[in-house]
Amino acid sequence: MNKTIGVIRGDCSSREIVEQTLRVLDAVADKYGHTWTYVPVAMGGDAIDQYGEPLPEHELEKCLAADAVLLGAVGGPKWEGLPGEKRPEKGLLALRKGMGLFSNLRPAKIWPQLADASPLKKEIIDKGIDFVIVRELTGGVYFGKHTTETVNGVRQALDLMPYDENEIRRIGRVGFETAMKRRKKLTLVDKANVLDTSRLWRAVLYDLAKDYPEVEFDVMFVDNAAMQICKNPSQFDTIVTENMFGDILSDEASEITGSIGMIPSSSLGEGTRGLYEPIHGSAPDIAGKNLVNPLACILSAAMMLRYSFGMEEEAADIESSVEAVLNDGLRTADMMSENTTKVGTREMTDAVLEKLNA
Ligand code: IPM
Ligand code: MG
Repeated sequence: MNKTIGVIRGDCSSREIVEQTLRVLDAVADKYGHTWTYVPVAMGGDAIDQYGEPLPEHELEKCLAADAVLLGAVGGPKWEGLPGEKRPEKGLLALRKGMGLFSNLRPAKIWPQLADASPLKKEIIDKGIDFVIVRELTGGVYFGKHTTETVNGVRQALDLMPYDENEIRRIGRVGFETAMKRRKKLTLVDKANVLDTSRLWRAVLYDLAKDYPEVEFDVMFVDNAAMQICKNPSQFDTIVTENMFGDILSDEASEITGSIGMIPSSSLGEGTRGLYEPIHGSAPDIAGKNLVNPLACILSAAMMLRYSFGMEEEAADIESSVEAVLNDGLRTADMMSENTTKVGTREMTDAVLEKLNA
């Protein structure tokens, strides 16, 4: 198959992981007879440096014309002083919105090989951690009105969190459909004891639940969910939640699985054109040192093959190669534990390539 992939090299240590991931994609193309056309896209700090804005229209156009987009991460201290509208993160939000990617899947699964790197007690981990967070990605407080003004000499700021029932219903459906493909359990995480938006989420999801009688559906307040994720994560199968709760809980969920450097994500809209990125940031402190973990980005590429290109075998091949490397005891610095061997970004990828080509 021929596919066009928008490639956002991103900022700081993102450049290293994207470069390594392209090596893996090239190996998959060779092995299975595919052709990828990589289209470089500037977004985030990179685009600010080149064009003075985080996502120029012409760069978004390239993403809209691609079959899928691969991203590392954006942002860094160099751009931190900029006003909200000009920050690298704004490029990412504009990209998600511009591509219509309202559905963000973030799996939290313990790799048994990394259990020792998890901060949780063994008896909790032994019950299993395997859930997915379905995060709404183009609404809520991320896209509501933001203002800062001075009224009578007092500075005030406002961030609005709007949701309409259609936005909720379409992500709610993704939640139920995702649960149907898994263990058929869906938890809506919200703050319905305080927020009107959460009460609307509940009303819409209880309604949707009637279409999915096989799914065991329940609701949980977000503060409790944050606690339950570290106390008893095995109770979760599929979590569906609004944008900011999903942002926060997915970082927590990644930490209990051993390392945030291992968690990929997919963002999709109505069709198959998606954006694939690790959930971690651009790790400026270790940029250029061959230290960053490339596996979340490599696993994001596997998700791209599966969800955007329908290449299940190729995706599974990447995932089992990663697993084999972990079985060999190779670890980047973020996931070290006793009796493991420390390797750098490039060496980790070399090892994955070796398994892939074995
Ligand atoms: C994420 C990130 C982004 C978000 C930032 C970089 C804007 O934290 O993808 O989780 O909050 O969505
Ligand atoms: Mg985040």
